[in-house]
Amino acid sequence: MRFEETFQLPLQHRVVFSSALLDPANGALRDVIAGSGSRRAIAFIDEGVERTNPQGARALAAWFDAQSRAGHALPDLCSVDVVPGGEAAKNDSVIVDQVIAATERHAIDRRSFVIAIGGGAMLDAVGLGAALAHRGVRLVRIPTTTLAMDDAAMGVKNGINRFGKKNFVGAFAVPWAVLCDDTYLTTLDSRHFRAGFSEAVKIACLRDAALLGQMERDASRIAARDIRASMPTIIRCAQLHLEHITRGGDPFEVREARPLDFGHWSAHKLESMSDFTVPHGEAVSIGIALDCAYARHVGLLSAPDAARITDCLRALHLPTWHPLLEDIDAMTHGLEEFREHLGGVLTITQLTAIGASIDVHEMDADAIRAAVRSLAP
Ligand SMILES: NC(=O)c1ccc[n+]([C@@H]2O[C@H](COP(=O)([O-])OP(=O)(O)OC[C@H]3O[C@@H](n4cnc5c(N)ncnc54)[C@H](O)[C@@H]3O)[C@@H](O)[C@H]2O)c1
Ligand SMILES: [Zn+2]
Repeated sequence: MRFEETFQLPLQHRVVFSSALLDPANGALRDVIAGSGSRRAIAFIDEGVERTNPQGARALAAWFDAQSRAGHALPDLCSVDVVPGGEAAKNDSVIVDQVIAATERHAIDRRSFVIAIGGGAMLDAVGLGAALAHRGVRLVRIPTTTLAMDDAAMGVKNGINRFGKKNFVGAFAVPWAVLCDDTYLTTLDSRHFRAGFSEAVKIACLRDAALLGQMERDASRIAARDIRASMPTIIRCAQLHLEHITRGGDPFEVREARPLDFGHWSAHKLESMSDFTVPHGEAVSIGIALDCAYARHVGLLSAPDAARITDCLRALHLPTWHPLLEDIDAMTHGLEEFREHLGGVLTITQLTAIGASIDVHEMDADAIRAAVRSLAP
């Protein structure tokens, strides 16, 4: 006897861009958690945000109080825990365990909420805890970095690093809602502010040549952290990521091709080789530059297109080189790790023009070496 059924799920992905989310007059958070049959919420906030940003734990608690005084029936906010931010947050399972323990302690059920406020790393770790507790508690992500707003928080992935490998342990789960607030960006340091734009260059190269033009035009203002100049790029990049997930036909990455991981095979390797001292966004910038140099070297991409992309990264004050690239053997081992992570045949996205790409199934070590040499300062 054999049964085989194909089925589809009606999934929803809610993303809101707003400003001053925790102002009592702002109803964006209320709109997504009110009336959903939930009684409780717990929150986790990135230590980097808590230390610097006025919209921290106290502001969240005050916002819930104000809503309740105004007569809105919202879930009770049972706790707000400050957790470490940055890649260290993903290098062990402490946050994951903390989320699971808080879920049990506060009787959080599957209709309750876990609210996570922070950068992509802590969102990944808190999200994994929320995905595991009760096999999935509703997760509201409030991303506080450029990279988390334009990419990480839009994803349906959660994860932590193990064995020195990026995202080795993780789970797919669609967040209940993603609420982005540009006022968080005022306290983000310049390095991380700029790092998030590598993902925008990535998706522009793959999908939207006009977005690359926009970034070329606005690069100096973005690099100077001009939030008004930066938000249109962040929002467009978020929208393109969202479209890929909801309309690309492979939200849970069953296929071998992972187009949005353009530039990432070497980026992930560089992050782990540097003991995660190179932030993800910077590693992606270097990874994009390397793949553009490679594609130019093997004749896939024209020299002017490759130069345009690398120049745009540099205009955004993003790096296009790291001395660890010179360890070609270790870098090319990253290709095998990438293949292992995806499963099946090695599939790497390479550009053929700005806005056009193909999948390749092997990369030539000599051409990688030549590409590395061409980027060296
Ligand atoms: N799940 C996904 O689909 C996905 C996609 C892309 C990237 N990622 C992951 O995201 C991570 C990178 O995230 P990131 O670039 O947001 O950096 P991050 O989370 O590492 O945060 C960088 C630093 O900024 C601090 N910080 C965060 N927000 C702040 C604010 N508003 N004010 C002051 N300080 C603040 C943090 O405490 C941390 O020290 C990587 O681990 C990457 O793998 C996940
Ligand atoms: Zn990335």
